[in-house]
Amino acid sequence: MSQLFSPLTIKGVTFKNRIGVSPMCQYSSENGLANDWHRIHLGSRAVGGAGLIIAEATAVLPEGRITPACAGIWNDEQVEALIPITRFLEQYGAVPGIQIGHAGRKGSAAPPWDGGQHLKNAEGGYDIMGPGDEPFDHDGVRLWKTPRKMTLDDIEYVQNAFIDATKRALAAGYKLLEIHGAHGYLLHSFFTPLVNKRDDEYGGSIENRARMMLETIRKVREAWPDNLPLAVRLSASDWDENGLAIEDNIQMAMWLKELGVDIIDCSAGGASPSSRSSIGSRTSDQIGLAADIRKSANIKTMAVGTITEPEQAENIIASGQSDMVLLARGMLRDPYWAFHAAQALGVDTKTVAPIQNAFFVG
Ligand SMILES: Cc1cc2nc3c(=O)[nH]c(=O)nc-3n(C[C@H](O)[C@H](O)[C@H](O)COP(=O)(O)O)c2cc1C
Repeated sequence: MSQLFSPLTIKGVTFKNRIGVSPMCQYSSENGLANDWHRIHLGSRAVGGAGLIIAEATAVLPEGRITPACAGIWNDEQVEALIPITRFLEQYGAVPGIQIGHAGRKGSAAPPWDGGQHLKNAEGGYDIMGPGDEPFDHDGVRLWKTPRKMTLDDIEYVQNAFIDATKRALAAGYKLLEIHGAHGYLLHSFFTPLVNKRDDEYGGSIENRARMMLETIRKVREAWPDNLPLAVRLSASDWDENGLAIEDNIQMAMWLKELGVDIIDCSAGGASPSSRSSIGSRTSDQIGLAADIRKSANIKTMAVGTITEPEQAENIIASGQSDMVLLARGMLRDPYWAFHAAQALGVDTKTVAPIQNAFFVG
């Protein structure tokens, strides 16, 4: 009996299996709008049998986009464009999820295939802000833009944008909301001492550095229905001796649980040039972080990072390291990864994929 293919219920939502599509920026939007690309990209992974599909980092404000081509959820037109996607995913058995976030000092970048570096405003970039006025990079070549140090009014403005985006995500039909609290973007950049050097109530002690994340998520939880799951993606380690360690993130997970967060998505890295990349070659180390948070904070976790093989995913769930597995690059290689995993593990594919496929090739 496969544990990977056993259903999971969180609040009022049941996932048909423990396999999720990890959020992946598509750098394919204009004015933050979803289009045919997003419909096919996400829809094909639902047909492929994933139980959860989390749409890419979707910005709560225009200046919160990582790149000008990133998705957004700051207006109603964007909601209208997302509705057909959530309807399709649900119709074919996947829970529609969305990651909302703010890029902070890493925003205003070019898409990776255009070099990924900061864009001048004249090139389509925009002004950025963060906990302080230190740029991500100091070399003048990479993420060189100087962010504006956020005032208390800025903090309130961004938190309100998270509330509005939460309401729009609900209107768009999403059933799982994930807050992007990782990878050096705004909320993580407040939490990590690698970036946050503030001396007010939002900086210094771990309680103060956690304040931005916790205040935002408290407000989001109030705006997101009680019976729908709320996830937070954390960089569970900065992989840097001066940064956040797993212990700090266990503490954060405990605070988040108290606020009503249901599951922690355990990524890592991305805070500064000295910490590891969140899609580097060593992301498999993140599985252990998901296990640590699950055990020590007593909260459900999603494991992510170089999960490629069905048996590997099965073992992660069966050994209690996490409650779900997320795949990013594995799903780019094979949108039918879940279907193929079911075949490999001897699971009836009719419980995994839509009948249009499973009837003929299960
Ligand atoms: C093309 C691409 C886009 C990504 N975009 C996001 C994103 O929008 N939000 C996020 O939290 N992580 C993002 N990531 C990181 C993945 O969600 C995932 O954590 C990472 O790739 C490790 O998983 P993997 O080894 O299965 O690829 C992205 C990764 C890739 C490859």
